[in-house]
Amino acid sequence: MINHTDTSIVTIDRFIIEQEALFPEATGELSSILYELAVAAKMISSKVRRAGLIDILGAAGSENVQGEHQQKLDVIANAIITKAMDHGGKLCAMASEEEEGIIEIPPQFKCGKYVLLFDPLDGSSNIDVNVPVGTIFSVLRRVTPGPGRGAIEDMLQPGLKQVAAGYVIYGSSTMMVYTTGHGAHGFTLDPSIGEFLLSHPHIRTPEVGKYLSVNDSYEQYWSEPVRALMRRYRGLDMQREAMNVRYVGSLVADFHRNLLGGGVFVYPANQRSPSGKLRLLYECNPLAFICEQAGGAATDGMRRLLEVVPTELHQRSPLFIGSKQDVAIATRMLEDER
Ligand code: AHG
Ligand code: MN
Ligand code: MN
Repeated sequence: MINHTDTSIVTIDRFIIEQEALFPEATGELSSILYELAVAAKMISSKVRRAGLIDILGAAGSENVQGEHQQKLDVIANAIITKAMDHGGKLCAMASEEEEGIIEIPPQFKCGKYVLLFDPLDGSSNIDVNVPVGTIFSVLRRVTPGPGRGAIEDMLQPGLKQVAAGYVIYGSSTMMVYTTGHGAHGFTLDPSIGEFLLSHPHIRTPEVGKYLSVNDSYEQYWSEPVRALMRRYRGLDMQREAMNVRYVGSLVADFHRNLLGGGVFVYPANQRSPSGKLRLLYECNPLAFICEQAGGAATDGMRRLLEVVPTELHQRSPLFIGSKQDVAIATRMLEDER
């Protein structure tokens, strides 16, 4: 069915159409959500690329010298996604890390059978210092009966129910990586033609990783099993070859490096943050779906992450994600915490 070779130039639009054919029951609605997300990603990318040149780095709500309203990039990214996605007729509600409640589809637009959850700009505190940031998204099929507006129950589904998930990294180049359950595929934006081109088909993450991404300034607040796990990853207990520590502080950037190069990203619970920091629905679940599709694994330390049943929109979760064998070490060593 896939009609191209390794050297063919494949746009994301064409790839989405080809993938749709893998689902005989597909109506094209999910495909249009993915196209629209790719457009939103290009718009956010163009804003991120101009960060520092235009006056958008100030605090949201303040005014610049021309008396214009300044907005932070995470607020801008949130508005771009909302406006790109609210009128396509395919979604019945959205939720964003930046907004407290669900984002309703305006009454003048049709509602569809999907919901979209997103972190519009991940790692946004890194913007001011020119470090990569990202966007993360998750698409679920509604569980409430249509055709009206969606509700919170549509959002509170375990990650296994995701029909698509992805992220965009605004790094040395802009890349979008997504899955619909048939592998994880990466596309690099060619800014000169404004197209995402297939650059990383069928991403496979190594079984054993070389990178460890963790903020170990929380060590004093970790449990003993977590401390022991970190010693293991660093090779200090002589049970494993020492990993290289790499921590950007933008989840998307850390995850992306480890996905391609092999490794684990961990954000454990600690005494000060008993559920960790990261958001289950906007950050952990979409990356867990991609990671599993690439042959990796993800856990919250107790369970396979994708099986966790959420109870709140902004629920936090500990996260151990990446190369399968390294995540398995976490599962084994954290057993005592259960
Ligand atoms: P966001 O910018 O969307 O709020 O996410 C920030 C997150 C994530 O990107 C990163 O991995 C983590 O915060 C870093 O947290 P610490 O500073 O506690 O390590
Ligand atoms: Mn984030
Ligand atoms: Mn964010």
